[in-house]
Amino acid sequence: MRSYTLIAPAKINLYLEIISDRPDGYHELAMILQSVDLADEIYLQSLDTESICVKCNHPQVPTDQSNLAYRAAALMATKFPQALAEYGGVEITINKHIPVAAGLAGGSTNAAAVLMGIDLLWNLGLTKSELEELGATLGSDVPFCIAGGTVIATGRGEKLSPLPNLDTIYIVLAKYRSLEVSTAWAYKTYRQEFGNSYLRDSENLAARAAAVHSEAIVKAILNQDPGKIAAKLHNDLERVVLPAYPQVLQLRELFASFTGVLGTMMSGSGPTVFALVESEEQAEAVKLQMRAVIPDQDLELFVTRTITQGVQVA
Ligand code: C5P
Repeated sequence: MRSYTLIAPAKINLYLEIISDRPDGYHELAMILQSVDLADEIYLQSLDTESICVKCNHPQVPTDQSNLAYRAAALMATKFPQALAEYGGVEITINKHIPVAAGLAGGSTNAAAVLMGIDLLWNLGLTKSELEELGATLGSDVPFCIAGGTVIATGRGEKLSPLPNLDTIYIVLAKYRSLEVSTAWAYKTYRQEFGNSYLRDSENLAARAAAVHSEAIVKAILNQDPGKIAAKLHNDLERVVLPAYPQVLQLRELFASFTGVLGTMMSGSGPTVFALVESEEQAEAVKLQMRAVIPDQDLELFVTRTITQGVQVA
């Protein structure tokens, strides 16, 4: 009987630009994704039978086939039936620390950990890029969760170009526990409201893709300049999520008003809002300021920091 524990970090979007819609229903994106040290622990244990079983300490997380971690194991079982027969199925225990349905890739990073862990349990010896390719079939953010660090992601989000490692930046995350935003809803609404502004013919599309506005933030990352990174944060999905969810807008405005905050933005399709701050002490102070204004315990607050890797064996 063999087992592995993996650390599955969350991500934030430093940049999210919607370039165009696509015939497959997804959107062509230009993103900059950043791993943070807020992470779930995934414990994998091989089973005598060929079954897959998921356990989780968080009541909101499903343990059936709707869980992306379950689907990651099912994908491995389908792709490698001989290994399944030889080594047996797997019990997946998820210890959740990342808020769920938050725009922090919690489900994707759990799936990434299951792919990497089963590769080890079954002695498959898959390369990172093979694992990322499998991950892309499960969800757009899964390949990034395997790669980790600071990465430019294009296509659906699955085409990755790594950027140099960032020196540590401290971050405060704020999320209302009871508030969820559907990613599919956010993209669909954006398409309905702003889709007409896409440059549709392929020549213009290529030109726009080449001239994405991420240039300035990429330069700030290359220069290790947190102030400029914070000034160039961008997320097109804020255009639909902030007007529909006043609580998210309020968090965004409060963060912007606090001393020590370099910049603030919604992550992914929300509803988590993050603030980049100058130091760990300031992060704790910003968290306290937010708690003083919103004592409601429905609001979850975390101090975290940038890290340079994705899923790791513990
Ligand atoms: O890939 P994933 O399953 O995480 O995406 C969730 C939903 O977000 C998709 O079903 C789609 O509606 C939307 N999406 C999109 N364009 C992307 C990524 C996600 O429209 N590039």
